Amino acid sequence: MTNPDELAWWQRGVVYQIYPRSFQDATGNGVGDLAGVIRRLDYLAALGVDAIWLSPFYPSPMADFGYDVADYCDVAPLFGDLAAFDRLVAGAHARNIKIIVDWVPNHSSDQHPWFIESRSSRDNPKRDWYIWRDPKPDGSPPNNWGSHFGGPAWTFDEATGQYYLHQFVKEQPELNWRNPEVKAAMLDTLRFWLERGVDGFRMDVIGLLIKDADLRDNPPNPDADPNLPPNDLFGRQLHVYSHDQDEVHGVIREIRQVLDAYDDRCGIGELWGPLDRWIRYYGDSSPGSPTGDELHLPFNFRLMLLPWDAKAMRHSVDKLETALSVFGWPNYVLGNHDGARLATRFGGQAQARVAAMMLLTLRGTPTLYYGDELGMENGVIPPEKVQDPQGINLGIERTRDVCRTPMQWDGSPNAGFCPAGVEPWLPVSADYETRNVAAQSTDPTSILTLYRRLLALRRASPALYGGSYRPLDGVPDDCFVYLRESGDERKLAALNLSYAEQRVSLPDLGSSAEVLLSTHLDREGTVDLRNLKLRAHEGCVVALG
Ligand code: GLC
Repeated sequence: MTNPDELAWWQRGVVYQIYPRSFQDATGNGVGDLAGVIRRLDYLAALGVDAIWLSPFYPSPMADFGYDVADYCDVAPLFGDLAAFDRLVAGAHARNIKIIVDWVPNHSSDQHPWFIESRSSRDNPKRDWYIWRDPKPDGSPPNNWGSHFGGPAWTFDEATGQYYLHQFVKEQPELNWRNPEVKAAMLDTLRFWLERGVDGFRMDVIGLLIKDADLRDNPPNPDADPNLPPNDLFGRQLHVYSHDQDEVHGVIREIRQVLDAYDDRCGIGELWGPLDRWIRYYGDSSPGSPTGDELHLPFNFRLMLLPWDAKAMRHSVDKLETALSVFGWPNYVLGNHDGARLATRFGGQAQARVAAMMLLTLRGTPTLYYGDELGMENGVIPPEKVQDPQGINLGIERTRDVCRTPMQWDGSPNAGFCPAGVEPWLPVSADYETRNVAAQSTDPTSILTLYRRLLALRRASPALYGGSYRPLDGVPDDCFVYLRESGDERKLAALNLSYAEQRVSLPDLGSSAEVLLSTHLDREGTVDLRNLKLRAHEGCVVALG
């Protein structure tokens, strides 16, 4: 087991994701910006997070809200400029907060100068920078792949008579990473931000960089939901040839080598798929290195996909712990900009509090999503306000706008996100008058207070940020109970995921112990471990003697 004192910042720290459009508008146009993030750095420092991951802020036509990048080395005027970015890095570093930026290497915008050149003619030197293929003899697309956002993954270009590949919207053409010039140009974009002082990258759909060399048809998915909308070709397929190709690992090793030329930087990847394939993205061990040679952290979304069930949560954590090699550091994500808010998904505010305790007491790096510390729930987006291409193309019940509503800072009109009288880019949630940072900061039992206390407890405890994990048997089925240990320090997390009171009896751990924190924030002091009562939806962190 690693000595907690020797852990890197990305192992012991907590990451906080900011969706820049939605965090804080400093310019008064209804869209968040980098100056807004700078304004809120003191909030983030007081919350107690160690790193900020910023979703894309690059110049972009915003067909996928910034995940369609038109210039990898600049800031969109909507969000600020490079000078503002430099101020953000300096301000964060002055507060001991690291900066992680989003990097979108699989596809650019169709307005990126590279693609404009590439589509200009078949013999343009950049033609091969993207994935172009002839139609089939009947004029149909080169293969059957579907786009994540509905329809085929190919769009026909009338002027040059070929199709180009895009597994997201048609404004996101996919770069050809088999072309060495593309690879070199993209690795240079990493160096650009590394030189500006960023501490790491969150790499968008990194497992898609390499496609099957022959672009073979994907097989049908026998378990596809029969009620998928007709245009959801993607949902009807197994992505055998379009995702997670063995050859991608070589490319990721090269990406890692760029990071390793700088001190103490971190590579995080957005990766899905079964555990045995996912785990390979840590890479292989290299002599003398405490980590593998690919990603420091392949994002682990598994808990996000589970029902609110103690056995399911434990099973997932145990499987991960067992599968990880000595150099693989665990991590957990419970919410992000692509799914339902965790408070909505797990059933409500009571569950959200226990989820916070679980996320911040498991072994491994937690990633928080802005607003989850307030218990923000899915926003209600009227049909005419839906912005997200996934919602527009696949049905409004699939819109990701619900988790992108403005951060709720206070009870003033527009929740302090943007000035009164300005229309925010997505509607502020109706509960903002009570669910906001100002109100929750003065409430000693609010979920924000719970997050602050959990973050402080974790930061002060080597057992919690760096100790071992041991799940405990012989507890009620609805409870997830585990020990975190480092040297003499022993902490117990006891989580009741049910609507009923539960009694946990752990005589082997001694009789009396000290409750440090309850999710209800209304009890501390000595408890009897032979009869630890957990109220409905209560979690406790307990110090063992
Ligand atoms: C990732 C992003 C998502 C985006 C997609 C295409 O899944 O998280 O927001 O739409 O990639 O870039």
